[in-house]
Amino acid sequence: MHPDCPPTFKLTGKIMLDIQEIKNRFIHELAAAGSLYDLQQIRIKYLGKKGILTAKLKSLSTVSESERPAFGRLVNEVKVFIENETDARERFLKRIELDKKLASEALDITLPGKYTAAGSVHPINRVLKEIIDIFVSMGFDIEVGPEVEQDYYNFEALNIPKDHPARDMQDTFYINDDVLLRTHTSPVQVRVMEKKKPPLSFIAPGKVYRCDADVSHTPMFHQVEGLMVDTDISFSDLKGILEVFVRRIFDKDVPVRFRPSYFPFTEPSAEVDIGCILCGGTGCRVCKGSGWIEVLGAGMVNPRVFEMAGYDPDAYTGFAFGMGVERITMLKYSIDDLRMFFENDIRFLRQF
Ligand code: DAH
Repeated sequence: MHPDCPPTFKLTGKIMLDIQEIKNRFIHELAAAGSLYDLQQIRIKYLGKKGILTAKLKSLSTVSESERPAFGRLVNEVKVFIENETDARERFLKRIELDKKLASEALDITLPGKYTAAGSVHPINRVLKEIIDIFVSMGFDIEVGPEVEQDYYNFEALNIPKDHPARDMQDTFYINDDVLLRTHTSPVQVRVMEKKKPPLSFIAPGKVYRCDADVSHTPMFHQVEGLMVDTDISFSDLKGILEVFVRRIFDKDVPVRFRPSYFPFTEPSAEVDIGCILCGGTGCRVCKGSGWIEVLGAGMVNPRVFEMAGYDPDAYTGFAFGMGVERITMLKYSIDDLRMFFENDIRFLRQF
């Protein structure tokens, strides 16, 4: 007698053998099931609604009354056996499949990595951001204006009429008689004054264009304009602000000097020099032996500019300044060829 069939059952040999046969066949088929699909087929075959064991249970009524309890019990035991075995086989097959999947997806951590070149901030943008931060920390707003500008804003409204010699100082890309690429950021002064009433203080960073190219000139470069207007702005305010700016941007206690100059839109006008940060003022190639380097143009806003922008020149005073970002960057990092900024040579750009 089979150990799964307790001897207390009084079943006729025929029924016993029948069920034993089912169990044997199941064991056989289960051992041959190599995939979860095979396993599922077996489950359906034995335990499904129309499965072999289900049919056996349904045939309970056809078994003689004396044999029925033992028969029911036996069929149930085989059913539980088949359930447990298929579950165990399922866990086993799943583990094998997972192992296979892990093996096929295995990473070879000894392979060299794929190198992705990381970008970095261009030196001009880096210094531009520093300039902006310094002025913003002193309460200046930021304004912008168009790069394709009207002759009126670029020249006329800045007190540079058509035949003015100052126009020759800035070789202009004209689009037509009235439209051009702005040669400086100063037109933003006028555009903002037309829109806003004093008091105001802002800087206007941006690209400017001049028809010029050599070691110290590129057709496009960057400027930062500044304007402060109120009822009692004086030249000493201009001096104070620019001295703070120069000392902060160059990280040093550099000497600053204001030299009389001329710009049509400021009166009086000045050029701002700093003690040469390369030679410390003793004289070198960069400062051309003078010990001083020019970094800014500035002055008190010309009353005629106020008039044209619609401000009462008797009620308001103001200062303006303009600087070249490339120039400040070259000084900060001791770069002696302006064109390096725009050649996109990665060996140069990596140094920042
Ligand atoms: N716009 C002048 C230039 O590009 C620079 C300048 C000088 C701007 C004096 C100013 C200023 O606002 O007051 O050469």
